Amino acid sequence: MTVNPTLLRELPADLKRERLPRHVAVIMDGNGRWAKQRGLPRIMGHRRGVDALKDILRCCKDWGIQALTAYAFSTENWGRPAEEVDFLMTLFERVLRQELREMMEEDVQIRFVGNLHALPRSLQKEIEYSMEQTRQNRSIQFTIATNYGGRQEIIQACRSIATQVQQGLLQPDEIDEALFEHHLYTAGISELDLMIRTSGEMRISNFLLWQVAYAELYVTDTLWPDFNRAEFHQALSSYQQRERRFGKV
Ligand code: FPP
Repeated sequence: MTVNPTLLRELPADLKRERLPRHVAVIMDGNGRWAKQRGLPRIMGHRRGVDALKDILRCCKDWGIQALTAYAFSTENWGRPAEEVDFLMTLFERVLRQELREMMEEDVQIRFVGNLHALPRSLQKEIEYSMEQTRQNRSIQFTIATNYGGRQEIIQACRSIATQVQQGLLQPDEIDEALFEHHLYTAGISELDLMIRTSGEMRISNFLLWQVAYAELYVTDTLWPDFNRAEFHQALSSYQQRERRFGKV
């Protein structure tokens, strides 16, 4: 039986509300292949990818998941053809401008993480504005990793801690996991419970390296533009069937 994804407004009955992941991260892979399979330019895959992301965000909110983090552009993605990079930067800017009103209505808090200073100035302004406007929103935390690299995030946390030590504000033996997390981009966001990757690749690709430590991984062959509520339901069912041991027996 095929499920009409638009009908899945309510949390599906087989999912346990008390065992939902608090924070879900998505590696949105396969936009290019989705377009190629249809004889379309790659950018069409990214456009459809935005629609898929919007629906998963709304679904997280509908079903009661506190945080969604999406990998939109990695530090390695600058190596793509210039037209594709330009298209993506323009797309991020346009989507932000177009969607801000709805994000406010839906009480979504937007956060961008990554080395944002290297992004086009006009995009940086749009990012600052959307983060400022949505700061007080509480229904869901939506984080977009842009020019993001997990190793780079860890290095910037180390630098920030080292500066505090150098200034005498902190002693080296005060550095523990909780303090370290406080210096990551994701400070203040719930623990990452589930990382989803579409299009079948079994890699983390430098995404949330620290945060993924005890998260469950879910990989599907579905290409990102086809990832809908029914697919998300499957990912959550799989997550709820796992026994999470956190290194214990
Ligand atoms: C990976 O597919 C996808 C990306 C690098 C871009 C993802 C960006 C979006 C879906 C837009 C998000 C927009 C906002 C505003 C957050 P790929 O191009 O690597 O696909 P392929 O592996 O099939 O080539």
